Amino acid sequence: MKQFPKGFLWGAATSSHQVEGNTRNDWTEWERQNANRLAQEAHKRFGHLPNWPDIKTQAEDPQNYISGRACDHYNRFEEDFDIAKSLGHNAHRFSIEWSRIEPEEGKFDEKEIQHYRHVVRALRARGMEPIVTLWHWTHPIWFAQKGGWLHPDAVESFVRFARKIVGELKEVQYWLTLNEPETYMRHAYIKGSEPPGIRSVPKALHVMRTLIEAHRKTYVALKGERADIQVGFTESLVYFERYNTSPLTALTHRFLEWWRNESFVPKVVAYSDFVGVNYYFHIRIRVNPFVSYWGILFNDNKKVSDMGWELFPEGLYHVLKRAAKHGKPIFINEHGLADEHDTHREWYIRESLRWVHRAIEEGVPVKGYLHWSLLDNFEFPEVRGFWPRFGLVEVNFKTFERKIRSSANAYAQIAKSNSLND
Ligand code: FCB
Repeated sequence: MKQFPKGFLWGAATSSHQVEGNTRNDWTEWERQNANRLAQEAHKRFGHLPNWPDIKTQAEDPQNYISGRACDHYNRFEEDFDIAKSLGHNAHRFSIEWSRIEPEEGKFDEKEIQHYRHVVRALRARGMEPIVTLWHWTHPIWFAQKGGWLHPDAVESFVRFARKIVGELKEVQYWLTLNEPETYMRHAYIKGSEPPGIRSVPKALHVMRTLIEAHRKTYVALKGERADIQVGFTESLVYFERYNTSPLTALTHRFLEWWRNESFVPKVVAYSDFVGVNYYFHIRIRVNPFVSYWGILFNDNKKVSDMGWELFPEGLYHVLKRAAKHGKPIFINEHGLADEHDTHREWYIRESLRWVHRAIEEGVPVKGYLHWSLLDNFEFPEVRGFWPRFGLVEVNFKTFERKIRSSANAYAQIAKSNSLND
């Protein structure tokens, strides 16, 4: 029996735009403008996936790329939290939709603040600890129109919003400023595959510097106002593994580490009460110019998710060990897989938690595990829409009916007993 520390937080994570429905922000605009193109490009983007025949109809339908009513979680959060509670969750991560709170610059919507107060109370009433993200990639339209994070006032605007909502939601102890800044910067400003769809390395670097400043200033402002709270961030950390000893491999490895794992975290960790880890990727590096193809990055793992992402539980251990070097408590804020038929989810959760347990035994201060996601939802990464199914709970997007997947029950047993069977 592998026991987890007393008070360990178990739960799942969501984000406003992906589950609430009827949001009005820069993403909704982008979806409207790009849905047809995304549907046309579906085959090019996803045709290589083994499950292409299953997802084809959905991926080629423009409606798949419109978040629309999403899971209607905005209206059904109590029902969803009942499910989470029944699954033994004692924590839940969600995000505040900035565009609801401040639909016009400087004007706060009290009704929407009240909505999130109800959300927090609904969690507390069910004995679940709220873990709240302030920015999960979406922006009010006015903010985007001014130039988003490239505008000189961007940091000031964000800090003003953060202060307001943190001051209002007094029952929340755990706050995450930013979700995956590096992923955002890469998709939105280098690949141009997410709003605002820019392709410019200098702009991307500028945005990263601004996000670093935004985190630091928000941390200082929030801690100044409420000394009782814990403030951190969450970043997607990658396990890069070297597969030969060539200097080119070493060089590529160093570059990727610097880019993916070190562009944000080391620069903000002094301004954080904990380190937030999202884990999805293991990348093998073997640079060998003497073979016909360079074999720079490869993936020979047998198990992949519906999105073709490798399932490599051990990687979580390595990113945790690395994150521990910062000397702060650690929260796993996201970890999960698209798995419509629930083929791998139970195995993946269990195996990954074995590695988490091993890290804890070796002294890594992991405080909680939040699975991505509670519900099937509108998937962000480069606008995949509704076909990737990340939920512990299946959602029928026509009727909004919820159905608990069998892996969710397996996870519930772990959460309820605070332990894993050997
Ligand atoms: C992460 C995002 C999250 C979700 C997962 C699959 O990068 O933070 O919103 O879309 O990927």
